Amino acid sequence: MSAQRALTDLFGLTGRRAAIVGGTGVLGSQFARCLASAGAEVIVVGRSRGRGATVVHEIEEQGGRARAVVADVTKRMEVERLAADLDGTGGIDILINAAGENSGGSFADISESRWAHMLEINLNAVFRVCQAFIPQMSNRDGGASIINISSASSGPPLSRVAGYAAAKAGVNNLTQYLAGELATAGIRVNAVVPGFFPAEQNRALLTPERMEAILDHTPMRRLGTPAELDGVIIWLAAPRASGFVTGTLVHVDGGFSAMSI
Ligand SMILES: NC(=O)c1ccc[n+]([C@@H]2O[C@H](COP(=O)([O-])OP(=O)(O)OC[C@H]3O[C@@H](n4cnc5c(N)ncnc54)[C@H](O)[C@@H]3O)[C@@H](O)[C@H]2O)c1
Repeated sequence: MSAQRALTDLFGLTGRRAAIVGGTGVLGSQFARCLASAGAEVIVVGRSRGRGATVVHEIEEQGGRARAVVADVTKRMEVERLAADLDGTGGIDILINAAGENSGGSFADISESRWAHMLEINLNAVFRVCQAFIPQMSNRDGGASIINISSASSGPPLSRVAGYAAAKAGVNNLTQYLAGELATAGIRVNAVVPGFFPAEQNRALLTPERMEAILDHTPMRRLGTPAELDGVIIWLAAPRASGFVTGTLVHVDGGFSAMSI
């Protein structure tokens, strides 16, 4: 067998359909592009019609298949409408939860509404989206894969992002819980735990002082680039490559989580 054929057999996603929630963001759009390049049909879910259309255009220009859908995942009705729409057109095999928002400050200054919002967009939305999509992802040919995007702040927590960190710790726990409950329905559930990648949600948080602290604690002494997540996303999505992998938290962080001081 040729090397190309062996790679395609292991990692090819032709015939698979993926929904990327937050697919309009910096990391989410990269997940959409890399899954499409591996052959998946991609549904880009986000709040911005324009950004969704841009990601679809980029994918189509490379010969991939994509469609953008507008939905706010803090709204149950919009999530249920999205799931029904995709179910009616064949359902999905791969779901990535990559919507998120961050907010920094001292614990004493967090308002009730800010705290609630951090849990809402970073944790409750994952609960809501998984609940809506699990029925159509159950017992599919070749199984199905849910990939939740956690964060290095999920534990031990980072300073100044208490709400975000608590929510992402919840994402890790929910990932492991769902892996247990959904294994016999043929759905694998894993989380990717990225270190630090420049994006919209953390732009204001990456001050020069904080950047220095992060780099001091990162053995590779640099931030990541979104394409450095491609390998782990394709691996976790591809049933031949990761068919016995569920309930794992995969760190992609230049060694950040391996260090204490
Ligand atoms: N960039 C990093 O360093 C980093 C590190 C660890 C984890 N993460 C996580 O990766 C994921 C992607 O973040 P990113 O860094 O690409 O940031 P980003 O701000 O570029 O993308 C976040 C996306 O989520 C979407 N979103 C926010 N609220 C939404 C809602 N209510 N409904 C639908 N979509 C909504 C935004 O529109 C945006 O497209 C997030 O879960 C984030 O917490 C990022």
